[in-house]
Amino acid sequence: YFMNYYFISKTESQTRCHSEVILHPTRAPLAVSSPDNAGNSPPRYLGVMPAYSAADDALTTKLVTFYEHLKDSSVPSHQATVLLFDPSNGTLKAVLDGSVITAKRTAAVSAIATKLLMPAFAEVLCILGAGVQAYSHYDIFTELFTFKEVRIWNRTKEKAVKFASSVSGPVRVCSSAQEAVTGADVIVTVTMATTPILFGDWVKPGAHINAVGASRPDWRELDDELMKNSVLFVDSRDAALTESGDVILSGAEIFAELGEVLKGTKPALPEKTTVFKSLGMAVEDTVAAKFVYDAWSAGN
Ligand SMILES: NC(=O)c1ccc[n+]([C@@H]2O[C@H](COP(=O)([O-])OP(=O)(O)OC[C@H]3O[C@@H](n4cnc5c(N)ncnc54)[C@H](OP(=O)(O)O)[C@@H]3O)[C@@H](O)[C@H]2O)c1
Repeated sequence: YFMNYYFISKTESQTRCHSEVILHPTRAPLAVSSPDNAGNSPPRYLGVMPAYSAADDALTTKLVTFYEHLKDSSVPSHQATVLLFDPSNGTLKAVLDGSVITAKRTAAVSAIATKLLMPAFAEVLCILGAGVQAYSHYDIFTELFTFKEVRIWNRTKEKAVKFASSVSGPVRVCSSAQEAVTGADVIVTVTMATTPILFGDWVKPGAHINAVGASRPDWRELDDELMKNSVLFVDSRDAALTESGDVILSGAEIFAELGEVLKGTKPALPEKTTVFKSLGMAVEDTVAAKFVYDAWSAGN
């Protein structure tokens, strides 16, 4: 695995760029700053996420932009393309839509974390946010698990109502995040919030939280109390310690990477309150892109 980090800033009137090669498959946050039509500089990023998986014989890079849009933007906040190369000769084999891959692979990883970390008799699923990731998480969570109740809260309530009316099963729309979270066994935070939307006070002891948003070092979705009083799992330690505001600013101690639990070198502790801080890893896109390419090649 390898990953390049680039930082591009146009705020200093010229473009600066540096890259470093590291030996862990982490997400690459890229900062792009240019004013919008109103002269503001809302958060805008371009990510370059290359990875090589020898096990899958796959070499890819994902290019992903994530922009904070005005509420009714006609384009998604996250747009991505994955380039799949032949590792034996470097030839480009395919250009894939990375947006669907990003939505599905992120939800799939949260589902694996949930399978390992949720309490034994989980009945209530709560989703905070109603964007692309909310839909992909709902789809896989309701396919894999049997919750008696699904709740949603969103900053803009109409989008939560729209969500509830467009998914396949019953969803209770809540008027506040606290109402949605109270008593929930599994919580998914999938927002572009930059300050906490989920507070430890509200969370049922033993619940499992998948914290998917807040992918910048100064962004938060979870408060300090929740971060410090939960057992903290991450996809990548290196990424969490450099990119996750929830981890860095709370000072919470990382208990394990999800991979360590899967390999059996760290226990899962589903009886405790657990947080899985997801940042996304380039290799998730590599494996997903190879899977899509192989299925397409086989005519499926
Ligand atoms: N961990 C990973 O691998 C991974 C991968 C992809 C994305 N993500 C992250 O997951 C999050 C959701 O992505 P997405 O593609 O679903 O985005 P999206 O489709 O743009 O949805 C964004 C959601 O966040 C809500 N939101 C925006 N600002 C908010 C605020 N200040 N407070 C509370 N809610 C707010 C929006 O509510 P409104 O309807 O009110 O606008 C909307 O429900 C993002 O933070 C993204 O960076 C993580």
